[in-house]
Amino acid sequence: MTAKHLSADQSAQRIGQSFGPQPWILAFPEARALAGRIASRLSLPLEAVSVHRFPDGERRVRLPAALPPEIALVQRLDDPDARLVALMLAAETARELGAHRIVLVAPYLCYMRQDRAFQPGEAVSQRIVGRFLARLCDALVTVDPHLHRTRRLQEAVPVPEAVAVSAAPLLARHVAAARPGALLLAPDAEAAAWVRAGAEAAGLEWATAHKERRGDREVEVVLDDPARCRGRCVCLLDDVASTGATLAAAARAARAAGATEVCAAVTHALFVGDAVGRLRAAGVSELWSADTVPHPTNAVSVAAPLAAAVAGLLRLEGA
Ligand code: R5P
Repeated sequence: MTAKHLSADQSAQRIGQSFGPQPWILAFPEARALAGRIASRLSLPLEAVSVHRFPDGERRVRLPAALPPEIALVQRLDDPDARLVALMLAAETARELGAHRIVLVAPYLCYMRQDRAFQPGEAVSQRIVGRFLARLCDALVTVDPHLHRTRRLQEAVPVPEAVAVSAAPLLARHVAAARPGALLLAPDAEAAAWVRAGAEAAGLEWATAHKERRGDREVEVVLDDPARCRGRCVCLLDDVASTGATLAAAARAARAAGATEVCAAVTHALFVGDAVGRLRAAGVSELWSADTVPHPTNAVSVAAPLAAAVAGLLRLEGA
């Protein structure tokens, strides 16, 4: 069977039908594009979660009226607050409608950066949101979760099975094709191991820097070995760009060190507010990202590794 998409009404007409054991890919509207690519790769049916926003801001969530025993529920968790509530409504409803096993596919995992109380009294969002997600699903697939001080994904999201896909090799190979011989630069110490993995996959050199954050948009980046940037293209590589402050500070440092060109590649293109303008102003000539968050800079797709992870968790034949 090939991937298909039914409207909510068509899905509603399925009430009373019996289903075979084949799992479904069930997608929220904002995650439909990536979910479609996963469904196509796995030749699984693609079905819709529909969401209506009431005038007061509450959501009505509707699923197909009967579900197979296993589903992969695909939801974006950038801009997360309303989406987390919609996800909770969908996952609880999916159980009531017959889903025994829910694999949550969340390409970007939100609230992972606050992994400890930096000031007394602060909520440790990684732990709290992680427990919330674990209560909703049986397995989780995500991409480059921000776990710099947490060793394993299951420590953050205590779910029986969890897979973290890395986009670093995909991004680094893209950089190698677009800018052969570029130096990959990790803008902070936390990104070093991740950038190294990408560099090794793509056969590129890599370097490190140190970052000090003074506020949401105030960041200082100091290169560990500035001489390595001189006279060459430097590509900044990071798991997430939010305000763009980190990449902008790293770009200025690379320029000051004599880089002939500075580009940047990130997994999660949050790029809030004027982030892209801020990066252009800092001298970033080219921006690439993975398709975990839809953005004009999307240049590589994580559909293939996500589909492979979903196939394994759904125990599909050949996985
Ligand atoms: C932090 O460790 C992350 O890897 C990113 O460098 C950071 O979250 C990016 O945020 P912003 O774009 O706001 O500097």
